[in-house]
Amino acid sequence: MQKQAILGLLTIIMMMGSAAYAAAELTVAPAKAKVCMSCHGQGGRSTRDKYPILAGQVPGYIAKQLADFKSGARKFPIMSGMAAKLSKQDMADLDAYFSSQPGVTGSVKKADLPLALYGEKIFRGGHKKLSVSPCMACHAPDGKGVMPHFPRLAGQHAAYIEKQLFAFKASRRTSDNSIMQEIAFRLSAKEIKALALYVQGIK
Ligand code: HEC
Ligand code: HEC
Repeated sequence: MQKQAILGLLTIIMMMGSAAYAAAELTVAPAKAKVCMSCHGQGGRSTRDKYPILAGQVPGYIAKQLADFKSGARKFPIMSGMAAKLSKQDMADLDAYFSSQPGVTGSVKKADLPLALYGEKIFRGGHKKLSVSPCMACHAPDGKGVMPHFPRLAGQHAAYIEKQLFAFKASRRTSDNSIMQEIAFRLSAKEIKALALYVQGIK
């Protein structure tokens, strides 16, 4: 019993250690990150909306997605091909590099503001009629995620967020322990669009 308690404490200390490590920006990109940046942008700050921003992601999430692409649990041919060549250590290094990069400051067009504000309501307060809980309960009030499981959404391209919510809804993305599938299943196209716009605009 006591041994277990000590082990638990050690795990917490180790986690704190890795959080401190990840918080410092790694200025030199590992050589293996070069190929990633051809699509995901310099430092993972993608400017094309079909490529998700990786910069500033919570430590741990990128490595998990890479492992899921490699095992086939998350399906996307380009990324499965990329991940197939990566070892566990490569995944950890890429995770440490991209998560340490400064994230992107979000913005939305003026014309999209009303719908984005509707999205903010759901993000903060959930949607009673649809039995949807507030997104911020897991993705944090500032949308910047909670390491290692709950990804940062703040500043992410709306088109990518929308695509993922539809993928969860249609059970095309199933490597999430059903958490997001059950939520997205209840959202209609209008709520999905509103949430995606809000999330993209978070500063
Ligand atoms: C040829 C373009 C391309 C290259 C090169 C590429 N990716 Fe991707 N990646 C994508 C696309 C497109 C997606 C979005 C997949 C989807 O829509 O589900 C993606 C998704 C991801 C995701 C999931 C992001 C999230 O928020 O869930 C991670 C993590 C990722 N890539 C990491 C990498 C890493 C690390 C490398 C380099 C080893 C890399 N990618 C190389 C195109 C690319
Ligand atoms: C109970 C916790 C929980 C709640 C509430 C929640 N999420 Fe998530 N969300 C997760 C987890 C866990 C993942 C990562 C799944 C994985 O590992 O593939 C995720 C992933 C996502 C992704 C994919 C991100 C990416 O980079 O690919 C989007 C988009 C998303 N959530 C949006 C939302 C929205 C919008 C809401 C509110 C309507 C919401 N989430 C509510 C737990 C939650």
